[in-house]
Amino acid sequence: MKISLIVAISENGIIGKHGGGIPWKLKWDAEHFRSFTAGKWMLLGRKTYLEMEGWFTSQTPVVLTSQSDFPIFQKEHHRAVDIQEAIQLASDAGADELVISGGAQVYETALPFVDEMFITRVRERSETGVKFPPISSLDQWETTELEFHPADVDNSHDASLEKMVRKNG
Ligand SMILES: NC(=O)c1ccc[n+]([C@@H]2O[C@H](COP(=O)([O-])OP(=O)(O)OC[C@H]3O[C@@H](n4cnc5c(N)ncnc54)[C@H](OP(=O)(O)O)[C@@H]3O)[C@@H](O)[C@H]2O)c1
Repeated sequence: MKISLIVAISENGIIGKHGGGIPWKLKWDAEHFRSFTAGKWMLLGRKTYLEMEGWFTSQTPVVLTSQSDFPIFQKEHHRAVDIQEAIQLASDAGADELVISGGAQVYETALPFVDEMFITRVRERSETGVKFPPISSLDQWETTELEFHPADVDNSHDASLEKMVRKNG
């Protein structure tokens, strides 16, 4: 099973506001996120899962939480207490791919297991917020795709979408 990661990051590493929410509005990126995850298993931290209530359609979310009685929104959703349990759940169900979908704590925990990353790099510098963890050993990754998306009436900032693949992956 492939493990991918999807994230949007500002120029100074911010992925979200403290207390929830994202400091930009990119219509193309929201559409890309929905179509990329369609039909796939997703791993989310408890805080991000709660922010996304009502968003899931064909996706199968697994919520990472230490709370064994955490109430999931629908019976088709899953709960895992650690990354190993989440990977096992998706793999046992025959999933082809598990998409690591944030937030910051989950990205940090899952990064060592990730084969490829889809990073939306947003040309903005938020003052404060929740940060993406540093990617150690950047030389282990290569950029295989890069496309630019200019700001316009539906998109608050210039941004680019970068696909990075682990070299030995
Ligand atoms: N820009 C983007 O692409 C993007 C994507 C997703 C999210 N975000 C943003 O990220 C922010 C949220 O990130 P966050 O780091 O604060 O929260 P988070 O990762 O969404 O959730 C944190 C919670 O997940 C659980 N958790 C995390 N790691 C765990 C582990 N190893 N084992 C067991 N449980 C674990 C814990 O839940 P319990 O406390 O229940 O144990 C923890 O409190 C929001 O602002 C959101 O909008 C941005």
